[in-house]
Amino acid sequence: MDTKEINARYSLLAEETCCLSCGGAVDKSGAKKGEICIDLGSGRGTDVIRLAETVGETGFAFGVDVTEEMIRKAEKTAEKMGISNIRFIHSDLEHIDLPDDTANLIVSNCTLNHVANKPAVWAEIYRLLQNGGRFVISDIYSTDIVPEEYATDPVAIAECWAGSIPKTEYLKIIQQAGFKSINILEESRPYPKGKIEVASFTISGTKDEYSCC
Ligand SMILES: C[S@@+](CC[C@H](N)C(=O)[O-])C[C@H]1O[C@@H](n2cnc3c(N)ncnc32)[C@H](O)[C@@H]1O
Repeated sequence: MDTKEINARYSLLAEETCCLSCGGAVDKSGAKKGEICIDLGSGRGTDVIRLAETVGETGFAFGVDVTEEMIRKAEKTAEKMGISNIRFIHSDLEHIDLPDDTANLIVSNCTLNHVANKPAVWAEIYRLLQNGGRFVISDIYSTDIVPEEYATDPVAIAECWAGSIPKTEYLKIIQQAGFKSINILEESRPYPKGKIEVASFTISGTKDEYSCC
């Protein structure tokens, strides 16, 4: 995936303090001591650091992000705070260099809408979760199909709206990845974003050992 515009936009935002989230994925994740967690699109690292603190020394938290400046910012903050059960990985979400069945919990906040190949990310989420592991993900969906002129515009995608897809398509991709049931934990009313209308939601699901194939 070409992430030039995403890198340009998020490099500038790495040192800002503005909120980049669109839901309460980590608050709703129920992370527990000893768990292995992954945050997809970890940005400045705030959620990964919270997870590392929650899971404690017997657990571990990974953050994955494609923007180098975000990774650097997150690493610096974790180091300053003396957190050692943490690792940030500079990577596109379509192929993550971690072994199968790594995680008990995968979270993400306001990131998956940016990714061109959404089935590939959901295949990675399925692959990386252990049996019985769960995802809790906050993101946006579009209330209608995004017109081609915006959906193919890398700047508009980087601005966190044009890469969104309708809810029915979103949920279908997750089911096709192997997750049998999806819970909607919170959902906003539709609101305008960029040149379209979107809504935010936080969803969860579990990798059931008998669910695949
Ligand atoms: C809106 S920010 C959200 C950051 C963080 N999750 C938060 O809530 O503060 C989106 C993040 O996703 C990252 N991102 C976008 N597309 C990505 C991709 N294809 N692979 C990995 N990271 C990506 C960006 O670099 C950025 O840090």
